[in-house]
Amino acid sequence: MLQRFCLWSVTLLLIAGGWLTSGSAAIAAPLPADLGRAVQAIENLDAMRSGLASTLEGSDAMPTGETFKQVCKPVGMRAKQLSQENGWQVKQIATKYRNPAHAPDNDQARTALNRFEANPDVMGFWDRETIDGQSGLRYYRRINVEASCLACHGAKGDRPDFVKAKYPDDKAFDFNVGDLRGMYAVFVPDEVKAAIETAVQ
Ligand code: HEC
Repeated sequence: MLQRFCLWSVTLLLIAGGWLTSGSAAIAAPLPADLGRAVQAIENLDAMRSGLASTLEGSDAMPTGETFKQVCKPVGMRAKQLSQENGWQVKQIATKYRNPAHAPDNDQARTALNRFEANPDVMGFWDRETIDGQSGLRYYRRINVEASCLACHGAKGDRPDFVKAKYPDDKAFDFNVGDLRGMYAVFVPDEVKAAIETAVQ
């Protein structure tokens, strides 16, 4: 009975893995443990931003530098922390970026953004890449605009003052609910993955 249950769990995991990796550039193999952890970490990161942004909803007050610190800044900080803790490179990337550090950083990233833009049903996928001379797998995960984001990413003239002042080259406005806002990118170097797989064996 237990065995049958385990078999089912494995089958379900394979189906879930297949769904996440479906698509032409994707890797068909099931997700090894560390890759699954990367996927989960990004789900948590995204939920953190949505949760923080939703606290602003319904309040008429214009977001200030203080409230901003409570939304997208902590997401960037957590991304850095995840990179350090795991040996990954966790980034946010957008065509229409606010922080220039979030501009697309290679051709594959540009292709990934185009793919998300053209296919609203594609949530995420893995891509084999070489970054800074290291080979590995990069996970891309879409970021959609929610109503709560518009306080700071809506019409250009409605942006909070601190955004206008701090980001003179801002491109991250005029979004509507459901638009593609950008994506997360997690690069897992092969060396890091191999070290973790050896450690858990
Ligand atoms: C209180 C204002 C505010 C709200 C609300 C807000 N953002 Fe942001 N967002 C910012 C600022 C400011 C930055 C630039 C942060 C930095 O310097 O790294 C940013 C950056 C981002 C980035 C990184 C890419 C870039 O353009 O630099 C993404 C992705 C993003 N926001 C998505 C969202 C989403 C999705 C929501 C809603 C769930 C949201 N934001 C809500 C202010 C906000």
